[in-house]
Amino acid sequence: MSFSQNTGHAAPFPRLSILLHWVMAALIIVMLFVGLVMAHDSTIHYAGLFTLHRTVGFLILLLVIVRLINRFTNRTPTLPDDLPAPMKLAAHLSHILLYGFMIALPLVGWAMLSAGGYPITLWGGCHIPPLMGFHPHLWGALRCLHSLLAYGLILLIIAHIGAALLHGVIRRDGVMGSMLGR
Ligand code: HEM
Ligand code: HEM
Repeated sequence: MSFSQNTGHAAPFPRLSILLHWVMAALIIVMLFVGLVMAHDSTIHYAGLFTLHRTVGFLILLLVIVRLINRFTNRTPTLPDDLPAPMKLAAHLSHILLYGFMIALPLVGWAMLSAGGYPITLWGGCHIPPLMGFHPHLWGALRCLHSLLAYGLILLIIAHIGAALLHGVIRRDGVMGSMLGR
């Protein structure tokens, strides 16, 4: 294994991008745990956890819109020149996929509760209108899709953390530092 020690030439991400990245990473990890607990052990504070899940899910949907606007209006640091082309491609594709999951999961959650005819109430009693009418057969399909997306996101996050560690510990090329504000 080669431990190349580049000098760290990737420029840092803008401060807002860094803030949004880490706040959203923490919220998404909490959501994955809360979702798994809700789905597999309904005896643990189910109602409270579910309200938390819906509220944070909508917060993530709002934050991802802010994040996309910020991403398209601000410069994003380029990857190091010496990073092999397939790795650059993998990084770009995985980032697009991560954004896709961050948008799709809350939307599918919202659609699934709408199709099931459930009220969508957030913390503080704020009521969200349904995305569609009552379609009981769609509820099952969307519930399944929500799980598939959640498991897909878990795998993607594991790969993303692996790639971040490859940059930070093995290549030491400044990419990890660019998301830490260094
Ligand atoms: C980024 C946002 C979200 C993430 C990461 C997420 C994640 C998860 C996960 C991991 C599960 C468990 C899946 C399983 O093991 O089958 C789950 C279940 C669920 N989620 Fe989400 N979710 C998100 C947003 C939402 C939203 C916005 C809603 C509703 C408005 C929602 C409603 C539900 C429901 C109803 C369940 C099923 C709970 C049960 O079976 O008792 N989710 N979610
Ligand atoms: C857990 C949920 C996470 C999500 C959804 C996520 C998502 C993303 C996305 C979409 C990007 C592309 C830049 C942007 O547009 O903001 C990115 C970049 C990055 N993330 Fe994460 N991230 C997560 C967690 C983490 C963790 C735990 C680490 C560190 C161990 C990490 C390290 C990085 C680094 C170093 C970059 C810059 C990489 C590059 O430019 O290729 N991320 N992340």
